Amino acid sequence: MKESYFADSTRYENGMKYERCGRSGVLLPKVSLGFWHNFGSVDPYERSREITHYAFDHGITHFDLANNYGPIYGSAEETMGRLMDEDFRPYRDELFISSKAGYDMWPGPYGNWGSRKYLMASLDQSLKRMKIDYVDLFYSHRYDLETPLEETLQALVDIVRQGKALYVGISNWPLEPLKIGYDYLKAHDVPLLIYQGRLNMLDRKPMETGILDFCAEKGVGFIAFSPLAQGLLTSRYLGGDVPADSRMARGKFLKSAMLTPEMLGKLRNYDAKAKERGETLAQMALAWVLQQKAVTSVLIGASSTKQLEDNLRCINSAPILEKE
Ligand SMILES: NC(=O)c1ccc[n+]([C@@H]2O[C@H](COP(=O)([O-])OP(=O)(O)OC[C@H]3O[C@@H](n4cnc5c(N)ncnc54)[C@H](OP(=O)(O)O)[C@@H]3O)[C@@H](O)[C@H]2O)c1
Repeated sequence: MKESYFADSTRYENGMKYERCGRSGVLLPKVSLGFWHNFGSVDPYERSREITHYAFDHGITHFDLANNYGPIYGSAEETMGRLMDEDFRPYRDELFISSKAGYDMWPGPYGNWGSRKYLMASLDQSLKRMKIDYVDLFYSHRYDLETPLEETLQALVDIVRQGKALYVGISNWPLEPLKIGYDYLKAHDVPLLIYQGRLNMLDRKPMETGILDFCAEKGVGFIAFSPLAQGLLTSRYLGGDVPADSRMARGKFLKSAMLTPEMLGKLRNYDAKAKERGETLAQMALAWVLQQKAVTSVLIGASSTKQLEDNLRCINSAPILEKE
């Protein structure tokens, strides 16, 4: 028989720090856990379960999902549903669960992009898979050039009015539509809680495009996805080869072609700097993201509790001074 889960009674005393999400009432853990990889139907359920237990027992209250996380699409949310039934239901009010719609999910004209039809239907499906009545946060997952912005934004407003999400977020939208979205949501009394974008030491676009400045100015939270560049900014690939159990070995989202001599040189320099600080590369890379303006939380992935343990150390890192 499966062992029952009882959350660690010291889970809020194990070192996690919480950061206010923009100008809102929501506090997010500095480290949040993403379900993009490692929680699908292709992954061992017991390992996924162990990772979420370790996370929650260490104060990670925010789990981030999307309709199409898996593989297969939808299966990460089904894992969340099973976890909810088996372990987390008693802790629902301590959890901040997000989902998204925007990328391809089901065939035909209504299973992708930003229409009201897609967003509404997708969230209903997500709630069923996760076996919950509402998500804490629902995102438009990407910018749709063809659907009128107002349609997508009004769908977000109505989703909150229907009680299916408590807050809304925007992910991957360029700055100009983001500004329109911010104004629209504010005018409809559903303020934009958070922006989700890729930010790490190797990819600093949100700093360059003004997204971080905008979030800071408007009091919108920012959560950084792929803060470890999918594992590049860890010890995983420093030897120059591709470990058989790594994301790069699976080859879909992180390609071995990225491991050029220039990239390896850069990663090894960062690693040397981390060692000087008495840190792992992962720890330093996460601390770097957390110290950027407007950043509320780093949204990490982990394929083991050992990785999670390593990553959580970033919470106490000293600021990183960079000379470019
Ligand atoms: N909004 C969007 O469009 C979007 C896009 C991408 C991601 N996201 C969100 O962001 C979350 C995180 O993205 P991500 O998985 O790319 O984040 P990441 O933290 O940059 O990469 C996670 C991967 O790095 C490796 N890793 C992590 N810690 C390690 C350590 N200490 N030592 C060695 N290897 C380590 C693991 O890969 P191995 O499998 O090699 O062990 C792990 O799965 C996703 O789950 C999702 O919630 C959102």
